[in-house]
Amino acid sequence: MQIRRSLSHHSGPRRSPHEVLRRLSAYVTPDTAPQDPVRELEDRVAGLLGKPRALFFPSGTMAQQVALRVHAERTGRRTFAAHPQTHLQVWENQGYSAVHGLRLHPVGDRNALMTLDDLRAAGEPLAAVVIELPQRDIGGLLPSFEDLAAQAKWARESGAAVHCDGARLWEAQTGYDATLAEISALFDTVYVSLYKALEGVRGAVLAGDDETIAQAAVWRRRLGGAVVDAWPLAAAALMGMDVNLPRMPEFRDHARRIAAAVNADGFAHTTPDVPATPLFHVHLPLSREDAQRAARNLEEETGIRLFLYARSNPDPRRCSFEVSVGISGLEFTPDEVVELIKGLPSRV
Ligand SMILES: Cc1ncc(COP(=O)(O)O)c(C=O)c1O
Repeated sequence: MQIRRSLSHHSGPRRSPHEVLRRLSAYVTPDTAPQDPVRELEDRVAGLLGKPRALFFPSGTMAQQVALRVHAERTGRRTFAAHPQTHLQVWENQGYSAVHGLRLHPVGDRNALMTLDDLRAAGEPLAAVVIELPQRDIGGLLPSFEDLAAQAKWARESGAAVHCDGARLWEAQTGYDATLAEISALFDTVYVSLYKALEGVRGAVLAGDDETIAQAAVWRRRLGGAVVDAWPLAAAALMGMDVNLPRMPEFRDHARRIAAAVNADGFAHTTPDVPATPLFHVHLPLSREDAQRAARNLEEETGIRLFLYARSNPDPRRCSFEVSVGISGLEFTPDEVVELIKGLPSRV
């Protein structure tokens, strides 16, 4: 059965090639088409983040490894600190080590946000401190601006660069009383993703000072990421910046409404209780296998995708899944999400 609606913006009708091309061809007309979409995207991201320069990458995985490589060469240090559940560790087959010979010092509790005391306890010279906003794998928790500033200050004073894993910085900004540029000013380098709530096809941008980005461009070429005609990815991202970016607060508010309804119902619950950004986790009283089977059956019977995959829990009778509200998520009322979740046991 074809997916008709999806609570996950990583899948579903809005991401089909036909639908992306349809939206893109309506958006890019001979009058409005940018001459050089990649350059325009880089300039626009640099402007929004208040950084001198920005560089397109085919993936965030490559952009972040390059940022760390540049920081390591500049500082003459090989170790970077990050949360134990950093994307660099969990989802990238340790490319930082296999490709670049770098070392991760995991800092803090794997189920809580990294703190200043955790960083202080690291006890060794660091090339960089990586801060992920929001911390995706623990439900999208977001440090306060004050904590963020204190951690960045500590890193700088200890000679380390501060790097932002801003895969969802567009979304995270809604959780702060600060602009994208004010948040980015705390960091030496910032990576942003082009395809999450922004709904581009794929791709990433790394922003920083001129020298850092010039060095990053060398590594991008070495790694095969200097894709000359990357304009379709850039054009889709520019469309996302026009259409989706202004709607991030709306996505965050809808996420809060869904989470409130789930928590009020009580069959499942969310972390955080009140999402700081459009991303949160739903915890289910079901094993991971049962939840996945039920979600597959739901998909086959109704064409509705509730989640891409369930996450395991130390208690095998429980599991969780990620919700990140974007345009697809707005199609679901909070009550409907509650009913879909409560209906999972009957579909196992
Ligand atoms: C927090 C975080 N960092 C980095 C990445 C890597 O991005 P990419 O898929 O473009 O390599 C992702 C992708 O999901 C992410 O969620």
